[in-house]
Amino acid sequence: MTKPHASSRPHSAEFFGDWRDYWWNHDYLALLARRWGFCRARCALDVGCGVGHWSRALIKVLPAGSKLIGVDREAKWVELAARRARQAGLGRRLSYQTAAAETLPFPDGSFDLVTCQTVLMHVREPKLVLAEMLRVLRPGGWLLAAEPNNRVSGGVLSSINHEESVQTTLARLRFELLCERGKRALGLGDNSMGDLLPGWLAGLGCRDISASLNDKLIPLFPPYAALEQKVFLKQIEDWIQREVGIDAADETRRFFLAGGGSVREFSEHRRRIRQEGRALLAAVRKGDYHCANGHLHYVVCARAPKSR
Ligand SMILES: C[S@@+](CC[C@H](N)C(=O)[O-])C[C@H]1O[C@@H](n2cnc3c(N)ncnc32)[C@H](O)[C@@H]1O
Repeated sequence: MTKPHASSRPHSAEFFGDWRDYWWNHDYLALLARRWGFCRARCALDVGCGVGHWSRALIKVLPAGSKLIGVDREAKWVELAARRARQAGLGRRLSYQTAAAETLPFPDGSFDLVTCQTVLMHVREPKLVLAEMLRVLRPGGWLLAAEPNNRVSGGVLSSINHEESVQTTLARLRFELLCERGKRALGLGDNSMGDLLPGWLAGLGCRDISASLNDKLIPLFPPYAALEQKVFLKQIEDWIQREVGIDAADETRRFFLAGGGSVREFSEHRRRIRQEGRALLAAVRKGDYHCANGHLHYVVCARAPKSR
């Protein structure tokens, strides 16, 4: 079993803002669904569903009448996901229940499609969870996992950092790498494991493995007039105020120290992050902040082995 989430708030609480509604281009998801033949998927399972952002995006490209069950170990998210599904008029197709990814409460071969998004990056043993997802998949069914490599985000340029010193860039990358190492050492996942997914699926006997990148970005440029830009900027402002980075503020310090960073270094980093946050918000107010906001969000699809 996984350890319960260490923070006082339910898992991923800082990352369920409305900006998550803009994570996918729906025509692109529809293209991927066509390419993989999801028109034959009648029943699907979304593991680590959170408040249902991924389920609600995915169900739109599954055949009419198909059903999707979402599971999450946080009861609060399951309740919210069900409410949001009803509000979106999807209450008949989407249902949610509490369960751990490591011990899914379904018999072998129950689903045509089993999926997860930004979940394997948070578990101690992602290969064990993948094996459990394959267990509940019918032979030849689809496993679909959308997981990132977050470490590349530290190298993305914006109008306020593209002329910073090599030393500053290296300090940021070092900080993020140590946090990533610390999170892994604590058994709380790996923010960049997306790179390893195709190989793991091959090792588990999957076939027809393909890997693509989510093609959706939210580029920011003045006058930030598009709705998605406004929503994203509001989210960024909230993160800056609450000092949320790639991980929640209370977790970042813990991960950094567990990764081998020192308390003094952490204080320096915090000062730098606060400065960068203030500079970003000032540049937005002046209307001269811009960034394409690139990231690596892999979407890996594979067929379960024909027989177990
Ligand atoms: C970053 S959120 C992703 C939510 C959703 N998949 C989405 O993309 O919107 C990660 C979710 O995984 C859940 N989670 C983490 N570890 C889990 C586990 N071992 N079993 C079940 N759920 C888990 C968390 O509670 C959280 O809701």
